Amino acid sequence: MLKLQNISKEYQGIKILENINFEIKKGESVAVVGASGTGKTTLLNIASLLDLPSSGDIYYFGNKVLQKDYTLFRKKYISFVYQQHNLMPEFTMLENIKLISKLKGYDNIDLIKTLLEQVGLLEHAQKKPAELSGGQKQRASIIRAIASKPQILFADEPTGNLDPESANIASDLLINLAHTQNIAVFLITHNIDIAKKCNHVFKVENKNLIQI
Ligand SMILES: Nc1ncnc2c1ncn2[C@@H]1O[C@H](COP(=O)(O)OP(=O)(O)O)[C@@H](O)[C@H]1O
Ligand SMILES: [Mg+2]
Repeated sequence: MLKLQNISKEYQGIKILENINFEIKKGESVAVVGASGTGKTTLLNIASLLDLPSSGDIYYFGNKVLQKDYTLFRKKYISFVYQQHNLMPEFTMLENIKLISKLKGYDNIDLIKTLLEQVGLLEHAQKKPAELSGGQKQRASIIRAIASKPQILFADEPTGNLDPESANIASDLLINLAHTQNIAVFLITHNIDIAKKCNHVFKVENKNLIQI
């Protein structure tokens, strides 16, 4: 569903990524590991149409994505989970999730409630972020990303702020829910055990992407 072809990126003349070729099939999960500063986030931002490559092409469902279509493709196909949950403090968990689903044009309250129930969050759905634990907030942000039924979920170190047990629960959740909903995953993580839960693991090294 997603293909990167000869992608290179440089900032102020310094090459960060060089000639990357990479593919994610529908419903497939891919983890990306690598040392800090090697270009993982840069690659995620390019693949998720938040940033432009210096050269190379990006295809979604076999169609080359033109710059004029970036916003539309992001809305139509892509969800994000970040290290910070980014829930809005003045809204309840349920309102936070519904808002994004509405914005993305897939507003299915039954699916939202089923997902919340599955992960034990339904009884907390009327709480505001300040009344939730770190793990609960991050699980809610995963449900928010899944509930709008994107084609692909991009997650940049989504469990980086959590204790090991919460990180394990949240990463299982992300990968399993995405798999069940046939949503592809591009997951950046420092944790090799979490990476191994995905169908494929890649490492960014020397400006390249190597399958490990
Ligand atoms: N907007 C930017 N302008 C200039 N340099 C940047 C920018 N974003 C990232 N970089 C540089 O690109 C390199 C890769 O960064 P990044 O993709 O964030 O790495 P990672 O996510 O693997 O830690 C770093 O050296 C970083 O300083
Ligand atoms: Mg990063």
